[in-house]
Amino acid sequence: MPRNLLVTGGAGFIGGNFVHHWCARYPDDRVVVLDALTYAGNRATLASLLDARRCEFVHGDITDRPLVSSVLERYRIDTVVHFAAESHVDRSIADPTAFVHTNVLGTQVLLEACRSAWYQNGVWQAGARFHHVSTDEVYGSLGPDDSPFTESSPYAPNSPYAASKAGSDHFVRAYVHTYGLTATISNASNNYGPYHFPEKLIPLMIVNALHGRRLPVYGDGQQIRDWLYVADHCRAIEHILNGPNVSDTFNVGGRAEHRNLDIVRQVCALLDERFRSTPTLAARFPDCPAAHGISCATLVAHVEDRRGHDRRYAIDPTHLSTQLGVEPQETLESGLARTVDWFLDHESWWRGVMDGSYRQWIADQYGGTA
Ligand code: NAD
Ligand code: DAU
Repeated sequence: MPRNLLVTGGAGFIGGNFVHHWCARYPDDRVVVLDALTYAGNRATLASLLDARRCEFVHGDITDRPLVSSVLERYRIDTVVHFAAESHVDRSIADPTAFVHTNVLGTQVLLEACRSAWYQNGVWQAGARFHHVSTDEVYGSLGPDDSPFTESSPYAPNSPYAASKAGSDHFVRAYVHTYGLTATISNASNNYGPYHFPEKLIPLMIVNALHGRRLPVYGDGQQIRDWLYVADHCRAIEHILNGPNVSDTFNVGGRAEHRNLDIVRQVCALLDERFRSTPTLAARFPDCPAAHGISCATLVAHVEDRRGHDRRYAIDPTHLSTQLGVEPQETLESGLARTVDWFLDHESWWRGVMDGSYRQWIADQYGGTA
């Protein structure tokens, strides 16, 4: 049976990758994207699908209850995949308010709209599914010898972002427990790949290096993240949506724990190699040190650490692996190479998504022209 999916935040990084993935895998399904197009959301990410009428786009806010209810009804939505969020930790430290609004209130509005659309005359609509996309940051920070996070690790969110995502997870859980909604949650580790907004570590390092700007490594750069190629995350969500229709939580990781400084060095090494093997890159990016035979790693600069910076995240993906047979397909090496090549091949995308004020901010922070 074809499904009618509502994908919130589908013009963002992971949501956009998921919409591409789903439309390719399930061409008979209807996919409706609801996105407020904040600085992090871009129609360009979905342009090929929108042009081909492979998905529909509703420009709007998940906190707008009448809008959400009308979308659920109009498109007869039976599957919600909820990505929409404020997602950047540094921004949450600078100003947490939008994080509470979108991540906590927005999730509750969505849940309430689904309850009203799917629960009628004392019965839930058969087969309706709500999938909430969350993060490993809700579990807090690990010590060097601690076991990786499992689904039963206690919640200990440290940043305003993590606290807002924890709040959203708790609302999903409460709707399951109190109202009998069937819902799944995935808590994923650090994603990277195509369409990643260049404020997060990996795309920022690529774009800064191409401009010859410094590569800001917070503190000693020894913090550890578990890196998950975005297509592997999308496949995991696909398997969850195709799995048993019961409420459950899945941790999703890449089996790829690495220190930030090593990630930055690997990005630099890949760029150095691409400039050596593709002479035309030097003309396209003359400010990049690699254009002059100098390693991008010379741009690395240790800067002031993030406030309350979590030292280590790591995911134990056993539940996802044993229940649904899902394993990551990319290694860090293959995923990083794909990512660097994607950014070199999609210059117009990343230039387009960085609006004037963001370009100016980057130039002020890291040098060069906007
Ligand atoms: P993103 O910031 O790239 O995209 C967020 C999208 O949500 C944007 O398109 C934005 O326009 C939209 N949006 C924001 N506020 C909205 C609102 N009020 N109404 C409607 N749309 C709104 O984020 P991302 O990195 O793609 O993350 C997607 C989800 O995955 C988030 O829930 C995030 O917490 C979670 N997550 C991200 C990662 C990661 O490494 N990026 C890892 C684990 C979990
Ligand atoms: O763990 C999952 C989380 O991963 C998601 O829930 C978040 O939405 C996503 O943004 C990401 O959070 P992080 O804070 O881990 O990602 P970020 O890319 O901002 O930073 C990765 C690491 O790199 C972190 O330890 C901080 C560091 N860093 C980051 C930036 C932007 C730097 O050293 N320099 C930088 O300029």
